[in-house]
Amino acid sequence: MTGIPAVSRRAVLGGAGAGLVVGAAGGGWGGRASAHRRKELLGDGRVAFHGARQAGIVEPAQARVEWAAFDLAAGTGRDRAAALLRDWSAAAARLAAGEPAGDGGGGIALDAGPSSLTVTFGFGASLFDKLGLADRRPPALAALPAFPGDALDPARSDGDLWVQLGADDALVAVHALRVLRRLAAGVAVPRWQMSGFARTPGATPRPMTGRNLMGQVDGTNNPRPQDPDFAAKVFADGPGWMAGGSYAVLRRIRMLLDDWESLPTDRQERLVGRRKSDGAPLSGGPDAGERTPVDLAATNPDGTLAIAPDAHVRVAAPASNGGAAMLRRGFSFHDGLLADGSPDAGLLFAAFQADPARGFVPVQQRLARGDGLSRFLRHEAGALFAVPPGAPEGGYVGQPLLEG
Ligand code: HEM
Repeated sequence: MTGIPAVSRRAVLGGAGAGLVVGAAGGGWGGRASAHRRKELLGDGRVAFHGARQAGIVEPAQARVEWAAFDLAAGTGRDRAAALLRDWSAAAARLAAGEPAGDGGGGIALDAGPSSLTVTFGFGASLFDKLGLADRRPPALAALPAFPGDALDPARSDGDLWVQLGADDALVAVHALRVLRRLAAGVAVPRWQMSGFARTPGATPRPMTGRNLMGQVDGTNNPRPQDPDFAAKVFADGPGWMAGGSYAVLRRIRMLLDDWESLPTDRQERLVGRRKSDGAPLSGGPDAGERTPVDLAATNPDGTLAIAPDAHVRVAAPASNGGAAMLRRGFSFHDGLLADGSPDAGLLFAAFQADPARGFVPVQQRLARGDGLSRFLRHEAGALFAVPPGAPEGGYVGQPLLEG
């Protein structure tokens, strides 16, 4: 889920906070000496909104995410939808630069800087019908098949429009959502909303892949921006208005955490195929580390496969799925308790790919049948959105489609 290998964020860290700040060290007011030190202010992180690709895909997952889906209000035509995307893009660009957005956000993020805010917009298949654009709907946006075990709640699935707001400060993300909701008044109606979180940058001594709520290091074998075929896996090459865009598959996956946590660690590790402590593959021996390549053919001294037949990393691997690959960028959620007292918690799974038919679909088809982990998971909501390419300065996301 969380840990996308570090890539050069479009982030510019503000100079003002740079340099070593020693927090309340031996304070003159009698405070205890603190070892708390930080090099820069998290709030100063900046990711430009405008660019060839939308932000919020290759950037490392921020500490907090808000996902919100909207449906067009009755009677909304292409002009009003285009005006909304224009307003949303302008507000997103200002907020990402740490500027006021004019606003309706209640001032809740006034002092937290942009905190690496990214705003990502997506279009659902239903949008094209409502705007009379069915002939321009990309084939890759075709409805996903039903997968074994799916129990998707329609009220928390799909939608005409999707917005992903990620930031390293929860108030900044929520503020941005409030601003966008207000701009949508009368044009688009909120359909569902989900909040997620990931490791806060700086919480660990070095950048490391984050953990999910099952405690696993998650995100290791993601495609990496430096791979020669990265763009081909993650970004679409057409049709025209989608060239450089991507397709986001979302899933709210609840984890049966009480059952999972009752398993001994070695059993948990066999179900994934990696060590829990450091994410090293079980095929690598005691000296392996997180980055040791997975060897699906490796065997134990007794001849059994080191990575079990139903281990998640075997079933999900591109080698088991005709090369199918995707960029996973999920977040954890923890939304209180269900009626039976168990935690309503799990993974807001997000996968970005050039085409779901060569990414999520074949992999999930196999996982739903043969993944040992799936006994501890419940897919409760899902969606597929076309994520158009980024907008240039002065333009807005989706402009070539909506004005084309
Ligand atoms: C709550 C649900 C899930 C959990 C807890 C989970 C956890 C993990 C973990 C711990 C890894 C190993 C580290 C890594 O390479 O990232 C992994 C790998 C992977 N997962 Fe999942 N995963 C979940 C759902 C999914 C789903 C729904 C898909 C796609 C349909 C998926 C696709 C993959 C892929 C492609 C890999 C990399 C396999 C490889 O090439 O080694 N996962 N996952």
